Amino acid sequence: MISHKNAPLKRHNTFGIACKAAEIIELNDFNEVKELLSYINEQPKELLILGGGSNVLFTKDFDGIILLNNLKGISILSENASEVILRVAAGEIWHELVMYCVENGYAGMENLSLIPGKVGASPMQNIGAYGVEVKDLITQVNTIKLSDSSSHSFSNAECKFDYRSSIFKTSHKNQYLITSVDFRLSKLPSINTSYGAINSELEARNISNPTIKDVSDAVIAIRSSKLPDPAKIGNAGSFFKNPVIDMQLAEKLKITFPPMPQYEVAENFRKLAAGWLIEQCGWKGKTINNYGVHKLQALVLVNYSDATGQQIFDLSSGIIESVKEKFGVLLEREVNII
Ligand code: FAD
Ligand code: EPU
Repeated sequence: MISHKNAPLKRHNTFGIACKAAEIIELNDFNEVKELLSYINEQPKELLILGGGSNVLFTKDFDGIILLNNLKGISILSENASEVILRVAAGEIWHELVMYCVENGYAGMENLSLIPGKVGASPMQNIGAYGVEVKDLITQVNTIKLSDSSSHSFSNAECKFDYRSSIFKTSHKNQYLITSVDFRLSKLPSINTSYGAINSELEARNISNPTIKDVSDAVIAIRSSKLPDPAKIGNAGSFFKNPVIDMQLAEKLKITFPPMPQYEVAENFRKLAAGWLIEQCGWKGKTINNYGVHKLQALVLVNYSDATGQQIFDLSSGIIESVKEKFGVLLEREVNII
């Protein structure tokens, strides 16, 4: 068992918050899971499972045990002429998996290129980008129950996936270690360019019959043009979810604020662009000493050097307040606050 006591967390969270954990334990081998969980369950301490730390904000030192998921391995569970089902260990790097699929001609993940983090976290908040959500690809999530080390597999339907949500973030929160995820991918040429920005990027590149590699390259280019690279500027991607509101409020807002982007998500509901709401409140590009709101994407809060998690959290509270005041809409944080 590899354990580090009183361990620095700065390189384990993409916000780059310099705090500490009472203990960090590395999970490198599936055969060690039971032994590690029985050790952890003997301690009267809180447990936090961490992948790449790209969707968390530490607001203080963590007086508990962090289990760092480094489980590796990709295997083919089944395959025919049209599709393949992969089982991918939770510690695999998400973007490396996408590149593996693109190289092997397995279609489905290319729109999710360049999302930071590891495979085990992907079902947690049903990661999504550019017209695809990971729920479209997952057949099963394989887990170990933390309390008794028993194995449980959840089918796609059992995961109750929703926009940036699943049972692992709601009813089953902090109860399961995700050890691997099964994905169904297509071996036939199939692409999804429903998200307008992808088409514009492909047109700009003079590509009329795009391959999955072309789509992946376009997504990488779009993302790189507006999202800060966490290796250079601390951040956790979108700090808030895009709010979903009922039609009545949506129509009222459209009259008062005609340019407000609105997207139909269900018969009586519309999704708003949180980035637009935040920008209209004057927060975009705002910098307070060493942290602030990104200048190219108002949904992204950034740590330029040594901000504390509490400062970033307080900034997010200020943003929530002003959006509520101007639009009567309540923003919900997407990032997990620790
Ligand atoms: P972590 O931050 O380590 O963990 C996130 C949560 O999952 C925590 O609650 C943790 O306890 C839990 N968890 C992690 N692994 C396990 C496991 N094996 N078992 C049980 N629980 C676990 N997200 C999107 O959806 N779309 C985007 O386009 C997107 N773009 C981003 C861009 C940037 C620049 C950044 C920094 C982030 C972005 N994100 C995006 C958010 C983030 O990348 C995803 O949420 C990602 O899936 C987090 O993976 P992680 O391994 O870093 O998770
Ligand atoms: N917008 C603004 N100002 C801004 C940012 C955005 O007006 O500062 C407007 C844009 O002009 C556009 C709309 O908001 O009309 C949507 O913007 P964008 O396409 O950039 O997407 P988003 O809604 O801001 C969401 C996800 C991202 C994902 C992209 C692409 C959420 C919370 N965020 O962002 O996911 O990559 O779509 O699909 O759903 C993440 O979850 O961490 C994340 C980065």
